Amino acid sequence: MAKYNIFLFFFCVSIVFLVCDATQSGNEYIVYMGSLPKEESYSPTSHHLNMLQQVFDGGNIQNFLIRSYKRSFNGFAAILNDQQREKIVSMKGVVSVFPNQNFHIQTTESWNFIGLPQTIKRDPIVESDLIVGVIDSGIWPESQSFNDKGLGPIPKKWKGVCKGGANFTCNNKLIGARFYGNTDSARDEAGHGTHTSSTAGGREVQGVSFFDLAKGTARGGVPSSRIAMYKICGSDGACSSASILGAFDDAIADGVDIISLSVGGQDALDFLNDPIAIASFHAMEKGILTSHSAGNSGPDVSTTSSVAPWLFSVAATTIDRKFISKVILGNGKTFIGSSVNTFPSNGTKIPIAEGTCSNGLDKTLVEGKIVLCESPGFEDSVSQSGAYGIVSNVEESLNDVAFLSGIPSTNLNSKDFKLVQSYADSTRSPEAEILKSEILHDTIAPRVASFSSRGPNLVVPDIMKPDISAPGVDILAAFSPLAPPSSSVGDTRKVSYSIESGTSMSCPHITGIVAYVKSFHPDWSPAAIKSAIMTTAKPVNGTYNDLAGEFSYGSGNANPPLAVNPGLIYNITKDDYVQMLCNYGYDDEKIKQISGENSRCRGTSNPSLVKDLNYPAIVIPVAPQKQFNIKFPRTVTNVGSPTATYKAIVTPIPNVKITVTPNLLSFKSLNEKQSFVVTVVGSVGSSQTEFSSSLVWSDGTHNVKSPIIVQLTS
Ligand SMILES: *[C@@H]1O[C@H](CO)[C@@H](O)[C@H](O)[C@H]1NC(C)=O
Ligand SMILES: *[C@@H]1O[C@H](CO)[C@@H](O)[C@H](O)[C@H]1NC(C)=O
Ligand SMILES: *[C@@H]1O[C@H](CO)[C@@H](O)[C@H](O)[C@H]1NC(C)=O
Ligand SMILES: *[C@@H]1O[C@H](CO)[C@@H](O)[C@H](O)[C@H]1NC(C)=O
Repeated sequence: MAKYNIFLFFFCVSIVFLVCDATQSGNEYIVYMGSLPKEESYSPTSHHLNMLQQVFDGGNIQNFLIRSYKRSFNGFAAILNDQQREKIVSMKGVVSVFPNQNFHIQTTESWNFIGLPQTIKRDPIVESDLIVGVIDSGIWPESQSFNDKGLGPIPKKWKGVCKGGANFTCNNKLIGARFYGNTDSARDEAGHGTHTSSTAGGREVQGVSFFDLAKGTARGGVPSSRIAMYKICGSDGACSSASILGAFDDAIADGVDIISLSVGGQDALDFLNDPIAIASFHAMEKGILTSHSAGNSGPDVSTTSSVAPWLFSVAATTIDRKFISKVILGNGKTFIGSSVNTFPSNGTKIPIAEGTCSNGLDKTLVEGKIVLCESPGFEDSVSQSGAYGIVSNVEESLNDVAFLSGIPSTNLNSKDFKLVQSYADSTRSPEAEILKSEILHDTIAPRVASFSSRGPNLVVPDIMKPDISAPGVDILAAFSPLAPPSSSVGDTRKVSYSIESGTSMSCPHITGIVAYVKSFHPDWSPAAIKSAIMTTAKPVNGTYNDLAGEFSYGSGNANPPLAVNPGLIYNITKDDYVQMLCNYGYDDEKIKQISGENSRCRGTSNPSLVKDLNYPAIVIPVAPQKQFNIKFPRTVTNVGSPTATYKAIVTPIPNVKITVTPNLLSFKSLNEKQSFVVTVVGSVGSSQTEFSSSLVWSDGTHNVKSPIIVQLTS
């Protein structure tokens, strides 16, 4: 078993599910129709029903329409057979038709570590006008993290509702709730949505801990902001395309300022077949930045499914707090493993059982004993067999996360595991004790978590992904008492705060930071806020098994105090994105449909111009030993001091020449724009797959940094 099942619901491969009906069998599809037409007389629902009428010969079409999208963009979800699908594909106004598939859901100390201490400068009045929309597994409205003590009335711009189902009440903190798909309440049964919401915007709650571990004050990035929950995932963590689109359709129209989405698929999809790319495009149009988890499919390269340039794609890094759990053998030897083990030992040594976990366990041999597992991920079968505890063998490079289990457990690096095994093999009555977790200071944090999905970007190689990284390992935040803290069957613990790991946890940290920056600059575009956070990011100390450099941590670890004052920003308008889509190769008709009437492609499509998008990062995919000479036009806007002169500083790469023209930019006023061209010339061998450098624009105060990555393609 290669992956841990505790990697938060991100492990299942997306499967199209079939829905059958007595009269017609078909599959669920999303019919995406782009922007809403501006005409007042246009009725999306009747248009959708009319389209269905044309492909169904009579019958009750209402049963086949799952949902209409009509508030923020145009389209619907419906049950269609192959013939009907083909007819709809060719209808006027249809941009794309793709299957309704399942996506999956993928703290306190972490905010100090990332540089947002409780004492940081804030404007609580402006902050309390910000609405964070969280699209997730629901929320526990009674959690202390969502109390509304001292918060003023709901912002006037709010157009949403509190429709969380029976016995679900909102307040001046949790101001809205809706649910989608096969649920009847916005209440969180998985714990995930409560955790992410409180990380992004939870209130300060003192004296919080997980069974006395990690004691401290729980808080979100913007404790005065408002939260609206859009529940799209059930307790199994599955969240359908139809629900994702429904939630965005509402959230955008309800008036949220930021969207947090810790849900993703397994594969990078073409934009027009990716509900997350589609919906977040329409959010961007309305000035709403979507913070999105990069995925938990690392450490392999090209594993991120968050690829659209208008998404803020977040990788996960460690913080300086490390959970360890010791094993003491009968012979007195002690080994240190990683785990969040809340079960105290009473000092009695427990017998160690024989047997391999992958072949199934004999209950009579393991009951009440400690089982040694040759690989991780067997917590379920081991606890079901009645064992007392579990010691697992984990490759050192993957043993960077402490996981929770429903029974005493710890994960040892292979070297130590082998020593424990040989002790067990060579001793007549081997026994051991697993101690309750302790906390160590990790001096090499931040480091990219092994599970965090990596780039490069499989859909648009010129766009760096992930964009940024933030804490996502062993984060303490609010939880739902309906969900067990571990995924172990039979875990009966009920908690209001729990520890979780995943890019699901790093994503809401960035959501909080986006909101924090927005509280200082309410008029900045999504791209400007993203640029500010990316160009001021702190370096990350590589990854444990340094596979991918910037393709693992993006621009680095977000640095909130600097992001508020970046000096220069790389802005991107909706038209710039549309032009990128034109260059990428979508035809005029599709572009017109997506963007509404006004914007059309300039010139014919040319994929080699996708790189011209004003992204605050440069990726150069090149073939080995081939000479290249590529120019990257970029434009920066002055948001620092009115008069300033910035100088370009480039760190060299062997065999590659990088020039910036001009290399001095003088600004005379705020919001003034200056353009420049980065030229990258060279040829690189095949011994290394990636070389990175950076361009820093410095005025002595601000250092505006963009990664430059030369990526060897094979
Ligand atoms: C409403 O939900 C809360 C939290 O689960 C519970 O404590 C309370 O008993 C419920 N009330 C009703 C009337 O069901
Ligand atoms: C210590 O814990 C073990 C395992 O749960 C139990 O069997 C034993 O009775 C306990 N001993 C004492 C002294 O409580
Ligand atoms: C970076 O991490 C490595 C181990 O991966 C460690 O040896 C080194 O000291 C760390 N460097 C810094 C500056 O923390
Ligand atoms: C960025 O561009 C948008 C238009 O898309 C504009 O409204 C905004 O003022 C520009 N500058 C900043 C700093 O956001």
